[in-house]
Amino acid sequence: MKITILYGTETGNAEMLAEDIQAEFEAAHDVNCQNLSETSPDDLAPDRFYLLVCSTYGDGDLPASAQPFGAALTKAQPDLSQVHFAIFGLGDSEYDETFNHGPQKLATLMTACGAIQLGPRIAHDASGADLAEDLAMPWASAVIALAQTALGIPA
Ligand SMILES: Cc1cc2nc3c(=O)[nH]c(=O)nc-3n(C[C@H](O)[C@H](O)[C@H](O)COP(=O)(O)O)c2cc1C
Repeated sequence: MKITILYGTETGNAEMLAEDIQAEFEAAHDVNCQNLSETSPDDLAPDRFYLLVCSTYGDGDLPASAQPFGAALTKAQPDLSQVHFAIFGLGDSEYDETFNHGPQKLATLMTACGAIQLGPRIAHDASGADLAEDLAMPWASAVIALAQTALGIPA
């Protein structure tokens, strides 16, 4: 299926993870990878599945590369009711009051515009025991399977 991985990052961790996910799934799927800073909500298409990988910065904010996209969703309120996405968050529980708030905000902005979220929002913890890629690969595999059903694409 057609998959676009959209990453929102401040210091590159989400970009590295997005590239790792692309490498893992590109043999089986048509996968590309794009910074949210280069993405407009108007680009989102009904026949693609969007894997969002986004960190948290500042005081529970979207990272810099995701802020224009978040602002565009807030301002324009585009109709995303044909758009399917899943989201993987990066954060650090050292920031206990704002842990993973960036991806949580991004998911809320997407669904407020009607986008359809598939699967759970994973909240990776940089202070935890798991490597992000060890959580991300099974997550991506599961949500891609959900998307194939949702978009009516044979496995
Ligand atoms: C200055 C700074 C602020 C941060 N603020 C938060 C935060 O509020 N909540 C959170 O869960 N993680 C926070 N983090 C942790 C980052 O989200 C985490 O390190 C992530 O892996 C960074 O990914 P990136 O390189 O793609 O931006 C912060 C990190 C830094 C350095």
